[in-house]
Amino acid sequence: MENTAQLPIPFGWYCVSLSRDLQPGEVKPLRYFDREMVMFRTEAGEAKVLDAYCPHLGAHLGHGGKVTGENIACPFHAWEFSGEGVCKTVPYAANMPPKVANGKPCIYAYPTVEKNQSIWVWYHPEQIAPLFEVEQLHELHSDDWTDISTYEWTFRSHIQETAENGCDAAHFMYVHGNQDVPKGEVKHEGFQRHAHFVSKAPEIFEDGTFDTTGTLFRDSFLDTSSNGPGQTWQRFSGVFETFMMGTVTPIDEKTVH
Ligand code: FES
Repeated sequence: MENTAQLPIPFGWYCVSLSRDLQPGEVKPLRYFDREMVMFRTEAGEAKVLDAYCPHLGAHLGHGGKVTGENIACPFHAWEFSGEGVCKTVPYAANMPPKVANGKPCIYAYPTVEKNQSIWVWYHPEQIAPLFEVEQLHELHSDDWTDISTYEWTFRSHIQETAENGCDAAHFMYVHGNQDVPKGEVKHEGFQRHAHFVSKAPEIFEDGTFDTTGTLFRDSFLDTSSNGPGQTWQRFSGVFETFMMGTVTPIDEKTVH
């Protein structure tokens, strides 16, 4: 997909990692929003995300950078930066260089939170502070549910196309095997959209198999929500009880993860 409409990357909270994939002291390069970034977890356990390039001579902090306490040290000359993008130490200098002095951030720090077993960053093209919050989903903070299974894809598309799929009730019949086009009720609350769909789905038997005769059906319910462009969740019930969180994170204007 070539993004001929030249759609921009919209602001919102986007998932950049599962929490379990970033251990204390670990540093990883990231590329999302057409930007190079670095993600690290401090020794105290906080996840931080900064723009990648060191303000000294431009080294990429995500390739060889090391966590030192609550900071990340550049691989080139070991200047240390906090998770707020403030230079804390220039280890060999008697005085702080003016460009990083006075405790002012010198690298952009992305607002970062951990919820739902995931690390989220706020992206805004003009670096405006968050306008809403990541929705905390109780299924992902509960011992009543199994461990999560994860599935991921990277493909060429603009995030608007994946969002439009959530409004497309007709494809359920032709792609997902529903017996009819689900009837939906939709409501909007701030940056959230919620839809409740009811349709007929093939009966499922106790051994886990489906009716294939095309004669046995039962009501199937789907409650699907989105919170800005990057976070969606679905609760399926009626035929089976399943919870799914969908995260869509733009890599650039033509590719999503
Ligand atoms: S390039 Fe990062 S400290 Fe010199």
